[in-house]
Amino acid sequence: MIQVFPSILACDFSRLAEEIAEVEAAGADGLHVDIMDGHYVPNITMGPVIVGAVGKSATVPFDCDLMITDPLKYAEVMSKSGPRGFFFHPRTVDDPAWAIGKIRDLGVRAGIAVNPDEKVAWFKPLFAEIDFCLVMTVFPGFGGQEFVESALDNVRAARDAFEGDIAVDGGISPATAGAVAAAGANVLVAGSAVFGRKDRAAAIAQIREAAEAAR
Ligand code: DX5
Repeated sequence: MIQVFPSILACDFSRLAEEIAEVEAAGADGLHVDIMDGHYVPNITMGPVIVGAVGKSATVPFDCDLMITDPLKYAEVMSKSGPRGFFFHPRTVDDPAWAIGKIRDLGVRAGIAVNPDEKVAWFKPLFAEIDFCLVMTVFPGFGGQEFVESALDNVRAARDAFEGDIAVDGGISPATAGAVAAAGANVLVAGSAVFGRKDRAAAIAQIREAAEAAR
């Protein structure tokens, strides 16, 4: 089943609670929260304080993408705000299998995120351990980027390796939703294609419809 998870990176943070309520009313199946430290990626966005605010406002599940060096350093404090799961980038830790176990011990889903310049095959042994997977369809760091077509190979490879939820993130819109769904993604993270539109319900519906039509 296709799920649409708006990425709050693109929301109006001066109205965070209202923005969350609006996309939930507009049909969001969940929310995506982009944690960035300005070290692993060349941008600083949000951390435990914002995750806490999302936890207070959200009534749908929310997942965090830990685009940070040493993700386990902050996972525990953020886990207390009620996220459904954490994605981390395997090359930010010395032992990804250990990190998956530690995240699981926090009572949240553990997943890996694969960037466009990485290959799913590099992380194949981890697919037996994870609860869900995130395939980046842009290079991590900023919203509003162009979809990276070649990342579809990673979506297909992830689906070949894993039967659970495969999320895609970056440049997801009605124009790209069909391609990622046909490749095997079922959780579509979209920031600017949802929060950048006045009619959030239409935005979410159009992404969902384009993906469903392609499956
Ligand atoms: C990149 C971010 C973005 C964001 C969504 O690190 O993770 O992909 O969630 O951005 P849009 O949907 O605007 O491309």
